[in-house]
Amino acid sequence: MRCRIGNVNLKNPIIAASGTFGYGKEMMDFFDINELGAFVTKTITLMPKEGNIPPRIYDLGFGILNSIGLENPGLEVFKKKYSDFFTRLKTKVFVSIYGEKLNEWIELIKGLEEERIAGFELNFSCPNLEGEVISAYKNRVFKICSTLRKLTKKLLLAKLSYTLQLKEITLSIQLAGIDAVVLINTLPAMAIEENKDEPCLGNIYGGLSGPCIKPIALRCVREISSLLKIAVIACGGVMDYRDVLDYLRVGAKAVEVGSANLIYPDACERIISKLEKVTKINGNNKYKFY
Ligand SMILES: Cc1cc2nc3c(=O)[nH]c(=O)nc-3n(C[C@H](O)[C@H](O)[C@H](O)COP(=O)(O)O)c2cc1C
Repeated sequence: MRCRIGNVNLKNPIIAASGTFGYGKEMMDFFDINELGAFVTKTITLMPKEGNIPPRIYDLGFGILNSIGLENPGLEVFKKKYSDFFTRLKTKVFVSIYGEKLNEWIELIKGLEEERIAGFELNFSCPNLEGEVISAYKNRVFKICSTLRKLTKKLLLAKLSYTLQLKEITLSIQLAGIDAVVLINTLPAMAIEENKDEPCLGNIYGGLSGPCIKPIALRCVREISSLLKIAVIACGGVMDYRDVLDYLRVGAKAVEVGSANLIYPDACERIISKLEKVTKINGNNKYKFY
């Protein structure tokens, strides 16, 4: 069950995804989160953010639409509330960060460098002012990654949304010295509420997640893992252990679980225990790798 991302060992390949698992502490009511390979915190920014106008989350049945808008308490309050908790954990913690300007990314890394965490997940998948995600801007992403690489020896994971330039961008991220890419974040989307004829979200636009995005993510993971030397961590539509096996088959080193946590708060625990059982019985031999 063990897996390795950069120079860090995870006890299993299951990682709870950012924004669907709070800051870890809140999830202790549902199961012992030390069972996880790792978890990623909700994205934090340098200054607090209130988030977007409600409604901010909508269940479409085949997936979830959200526009939380990065609501978070900001770096200082985050540290006050969670530093001690992180030091007591046996699982690996990744802090998800987002900056609007390069300077903010730098301040976030410097401010968190002394924390007992395995590393950072760089959230390159938030819409900017023009409504585009940073993922789409190769030069900007390269500049941020190469600058942050010089500031920390902790793991750096780059989380991207789907873009047509995914191959070019992930190759340049590898060149910048990042340890792994996480594919994919939510996909830009909107929906109209059936009986009200109104957009489902207060912000109109949001990000689509859940089972409906898995085929897109699966293709991205296969394409990019066969291209890069660094690890690819899969994310998108994992509901049970079979989805995890699919991602491992196409080259993912680890797998993040997102929306499933909102439906079943103990989803990761269930997936890990099923995975343990099937790998004990079958090893890796039963599975065909594509
Ligand atoms: C309500 C909600 C909030 C999210 N917040 C964040 C976030 O703060 N940072 C981030 O990188 N991804 C965020 N995500 C995206 C998830 O981490 C994940 O990449 C995405 O939902 C796809 O995985 P899934 O289909 O398993 O949910 C959020 C997703 C949801 C549903």
